[in-house]
Amino acid sequence: MISKELRKKYIEFFKEKGHKEIPSASLVPENDPSVLFTTAGMHPLVPYLLSEEHPLGARLVNVQKCIRTGDIEDVGDSTHNTFFEMLGNWSLGDYFKKDSICWSWEFLTDKKWLAIDPERIKVTVFEGDSDSPKDEKAIKIWKKCFEKSGIEGKVYNKEKGNNESARIFPLPKEDNWWGPAGETGPCGPDTEIFIDLKKPVNFEKCPNKKDCKPGCPCGRYVEIWNNVFMEYFKTADGKYKSLKQKNIDTGMGVERTLAILNGFDNVYETDVLAPIVAQVKTLSHCYCEGEARSNPVTTRDGSNSGILSSSAQNDSIKTMSCRIVADHIRAAVFIISDGITPSNLDRGYVLRRLLRRAIRHGNLLKMPNGFLLPLAETVIDIYKEFYPELEKNKDKILEEIKKEEEKFERTLERGIKEFKRIELRIKNQELRIIEKGEVFNLYQSYGFPIEMTKELAKEKGLEIDEEGFNEELKKHQQLSRTASAGKFKGGLADTGEETVRLHTVAHLLLESLRRILGEHVYQKGSNITAERLRFDYSHPDKLSDEEKQKVEDLVNEQIQKKLSVSCDEMSLEEAKKAGAMGVFEAKYGNKVKVYTIGPSTSSGQTFSKEICGGPHVKNTSELGKFRIKKEQSSSAGVRRIKAVLE
Ligand code: ALA
Repeated sequence: MISKELRKKYIEFFKEKGHKEIPSASLVPENDPSVLFTTAGMHPLVPYLLSEEHPLGARLVNVQKCIRTGDIEDVGDSTHNTFFEMLGNWSLGDYFKKDSICWSWEFLTDKKWLAIDPERIKVTVFEGDSDSPKDEKAIKIWKKCFEKSGIEGKVYNKEKGNNESARIFPLPKEDNWWGPAGETGPCGPDTEIFIDLKKPVNFEKCPNKKDCKPGCPCGRYVEIWNNVFMEYFKTADGKYKSLKQKNIDTGMGVERTLAILNGFDNVYETDVLAPIVAQVKTLSHCYCEGEARSNPVTTRDGSNSGILSSSAQNDSIKTMSCRIVADHIRAAVFIISDGITPSNLDRGYVLRRLLRRAIRHGNLLKMPNGFLLPLAETVIDIYKEFYPELEKNKDKILEEIKKEEEKFERTLERGIKEFKRIELRIKNQELRIIEKGEVFNLYQSYGFPIEMTKELAKEKGLEIDEEGFNEELKKHQQLSRTASAGKFKGGLADTGEETVRLHTVAHLLLESLRRILGEHVYQKGSNITAERLRFDYSHPDKLSDEEKQKVEDLVNEQIQKKLSVSCDEMSLEEAKKAGAMGVFEAKYGNKVKVYTIGPSTSSGQTFSKEICGGPHVKNTSELGKFRIKKEQSSSAGVRRIKAVLE
């Protein structure tokens, strides 16, 4: 079965059960600063899980694109991806456990649908704790499902040692509880559906041996579907309150299910990944699996004869690199198509890490220069029918990847040399830890994300001083912030009226740039004199005249709205939660000041929220007319605006 057929069947099945199809939401969550990416189909539905009425009713179904970078270190094994598609169905206070479980069973086992042999299915349920009781209801429903198929729905009991014959496994919260997606929010016990491969994929790594059961890391059981009984709300103080309505939230992994249905032992053989893997092998100058390439190409290290020995170990390293490249380029293409560009912050940094890690593994495979572009085109071809945004944004996607590849290629080779020098020094001194200064230098001068240095170190049996690096980074950010914020440190040194006005307008400008150009815009520095504001911000391109006009207009609109400017003191955590802008990694101390612009009495809306030392005007009506005098490049990826208040 191919992906197109699986998506179609799933949607069709749940439509027959009265569900309405909703589109996949963007990978970038709207109005939700608590998470970087959409990690599950339920994210955009939170308000409806909390009782708001959904315009399409109480039964929904969709295919949702998701990013989960928490699993990045597992990428390359048979089942983990940073990007994946999730099939989901929801009940918003409508049906509950019985229908949810029975429909999952029907969809999986019925000949008309996926026709999976019920003998291969095992499930887990919540075993109960002081927050919520053992899920006897789910156990009862599952027993009936198994029995309908002529199988005894035996419940696992460790003392009895019945893990092989049992079908239903009660497990603790770590395994059978889902959510909330952020720190607070809807959540609940779940039941997870596994397919028994009947053999441990990696027997040496099976820690449970005789007690191997669903959830065991050996890989014998592949989780394909999770049904969450979302009936609780986790509060900020860690309590679980009952929700007004009982919801169902399910998620089924497209890639894993396809692999199972086709008898593949990993997701890279499915039709959504196999063409990318095949292309990596074709482009790679050393991917041989016993056969040499016929077309020698010039690789980035200039060699053209780099066939590695095909020892099993080398093959497995190559397989990992190949899968990592395929996984990461796919994730990167989707992230860029949702409006993110590579940067050193937040989402942009996740994207940068994915691309740079793909480039490094491509380098190990002796891929030709610029290899990510043809791979990105393949990703777009695979998905364009189902996700038209990929074709629509094709030029932008390819351009961003090309820019990042060129940027990193300039320093990667020199960086690797530098790394080797460090490795040699450490080994000569019989040490094991790469010092913080060296890690920081690889980051700062060669663009190595810390995870990459860590990975390189691990490959060589070394460690890095991660804590020290983070301190270095903070110190550096603090310094550059203080330097760029100039006189802003702890308030303006020169608090003349003009400078205070320009300081407030800098907040309006940042928010306006973000609203007009996108969320990749961050303040990179600013400098204020009595005459003008100089403002640096992250953005790859020159402002068009139209964009400039829009920014000016948006700032002036806020001035005309006579918005109040207010200041609150709070903890950094609270500021983050309130959605305030600021460099959260930097040290601000225990309490920070958050300046809020708006609401005015007429609009009732907040326009901007920033962590800042002040001072500011009391009301935007004091500002006069804002005008951009000049817009120019400041450094790579950073633009500079000079502006005045007239
Ligand atoms: N939200 C649930 C999950 O992601 C279905 O597993």
